[in-house]
Amino acid sequence: MERELAMELVRVTEAAALAASQWMGRGKKDEADDAATEAMRYMFDSINMQGTVVIGEGELDEAPMLYIGEKLGNGLGQEIDIAVDPLEGTTILSKGHPNAMSIIAVADKGTLLHAPDMYMEKLVVGKNAAGKVHLDDPIEKIIDVVAEANHKRVQDVIVIIQERPRHQEIVDRIREKGARVHFFGDGDVAAAIAAALPHTSIDIFLGTGGAPEGVISAAAVKALEGDMQARLVPMTDEEERRCHEMGLENPRQLLQLTDMVKDDAVFAATGITSGELLEGVATLGSDVAETNSIVMRAKTKTVRYIKAHHRLSLKPYL
Ligand code: FBP
Repeated sequence: MERELAMELVRVTEAAALAASQWMGRGKKDEADDAATEAMRYMFDSINMQGTVVIGEGELDEAPMLYIGEKLGNGLGQEIDIAVDPLEGTTILSKGHPNAMSIIAVADKGTLLHAPDMYMEKLVVGKNAAGKVHLDDPIEKIIDVVAEANHKRVQDVIVIIQERPRHQEIVDRIREKGARVHFFGDGDVAAAIAAALPHTSIDIFLGTGGAPEGVISAAAVKALEGDMQARLVPMTDEEERRCHEMGLENPRQLLQLTDMVKDDAVFAATGITSGELLEGVATLGSDVAETNSIVMRAKTKTVRYIKAHHRLSLKPYL
């Protein structure tokens, strides 16, 4: 994969973030999603690449999305797999809460997991515990292993987990074990990255969320040298059938990091509302907005933070 692509991708997430930010706090999820999607499509068309969306939203959300199989780019240049979420955190954006982002991951053709939009069980840890934990291990064991790897007492281990009834049993067990739970409402990519980043207080990300978010997180986790394991969770016969159609013989097989991101990949994200990972879009005047983005590459492990100022009246997609 050509490394120039990394900078081009930031232009794509910046555009989606600027467009979505116009809807921040307006209580209109679908309109925000639509604006982010259209801006992303527009910017992708200016990039020299033959991209295909291999995993993205489309069924869980009602809004028109970049659909799986959609071709993106100007049709010239390298063939690329794309995992995409133009607006990660539709609900949080519509309520003006923290952590909404625009995110993408790209890689050489055939190297990102191709799967339907469905639920996925996920476990993420940082570099110290990489290779030492297993998704099927009891949570009590995972906590012990991570505590040792991160040189912490069990009572100081923090598990970040999405606040959902489906996670209640695991939350009870984490607390029973003596470790701590850090709940978040929405946006599990930021949470997965928090577990993989060194120098945060978060040690483990665990739980079931969207599969597109899972594959995008995997690209970031790889660049951060953390570890991730996952498993698709088909809930209906239709989801099962679509998995088979997409070439997944055993949809419930354990997925290692390399099953989701085989080789090199670039991850790009732009903040829409401020969160722990990124500042959101800030309006600096009637025609100027600031964006903050992060770009990471799995092969070189480079992590770039990019601040940009934009003239809104010159953006055709706004
Ligand atoms: P959306 O941006 O599509 O609303 O996703 C937000 C999110 O929190 C994801 O980060 C997460 O993977 C998924 O929703 C979890 O799904 P659910 O809301 O059904 O629990």
